Amino acid sequence: MVKIVQNSLKNMIRLFEDKSHIEAYAKHRPTWPKEVAETAINYLKSKRSSSMRTNLCTHLVDVGCGSGQSTPLYAKHCKKITGLDPSEEQIRVASKANKFENIEYKVGNGEDIPLRDNSVELICCAQSVHWLDWDAYFKECKRVLVSHGCMATYGYSTARISTSRKSDECNEAFQTFYKKCLFHPRRKHIDNYLSEFYDALPCKEKVREDSMKIIRDWSLQELQGYISTWSGYRKLAETEQQTDAFTELISFLKRIIGEDGKITVSWDIFMILSSRPVL
Ligand SMILES: C[S@@+](CC[C@H](N)C(=O)[O-])C[C@H]1O[C@@H](n2cnc3c(N)ncnc32)[C@H](O)[C@@H]1O
Repeated sequence: MVKIVQNSLKNMIRLFEDKSHIEAYAKHRPTWPKEVAETAINYLKSKRSSSMRTNLCTHLVDVGCGSGQSTPLYAKHCKKITGLDPSEEQIRVASKANKFENIEYKVGNGEDIPLRDNSVELICCAQSVHWLDWDAYFKECKRVLVSHGCMATYGYSTARISTSRKSDECNEAFQTFYKKCLFHPRRKHIDNYLSEFYDALPCKEKVREDSMKIIRDWSLQELQGYISTWSGYRKLAETEQQTDAFTELISFLKRIIGEDGKITVSWDIFMILSSRPVL
């Protein structure tokens, strides 16, 4: 057990450490709709005995909480919440913005959750599970979850954009740019809506809920801010020649929608709800 955790820490991918990246992340990433939290909480309640159905969730852990994009949505549904992220900078930003007494943000990772055995009712993991060592994570989930405890693992797809003029062309240019970005190979798990993760989950029950979306009407500047949070774009921007692709995309969109035009940006949400792992 100890050996696995040490190995997973050694091999951990550290992409969200840089201060300017974290600040951009907190400012420009979309937050999740409240329905995501309601779906996870309702799933947990359906697993409880009938006398406990209406109680607050006793302890929820948000693994890979970032700067708190998902965590606050659960505040009114839970007695206690721990937001966990290995990036000290993410945790600093999350703690500074925290408005809830029942939420505590801590530095830590999903393969070595700093909590007691059988002490957690719900483990959430939002847009983060593709970074984890899954086998070590499943063992930790089994260890900290109570017997009726559940996991809610979710993410959002690569965005699609639409515009009032030449919408298909704009979206095509956006997708072409996305493909030029130098994402880590594990990004494939987001592109395949966590299908390999779903197959790997060692749980008696697992269900998908893929009907929700995030939709935002953004200015070109807001879209630029969002792209600046992509780890694949940051890698691309390290090579001078390739930042041209970004300039080209923005100039192209500006020509079509004008300086003040709006862009509708939408992401599919994919969610996997599952029981405590059996290993
Ligand atoms: C794309 S961000 C997601 C943040 C947030 N949950 C959201 O919904 O936007 C991925 C986060 O996973 C964290 N992460 C990376 N490896 C991790 C690990 N082994 N355990 C827990 N979190 C990890 C990163 O530090 C980063 O903050």
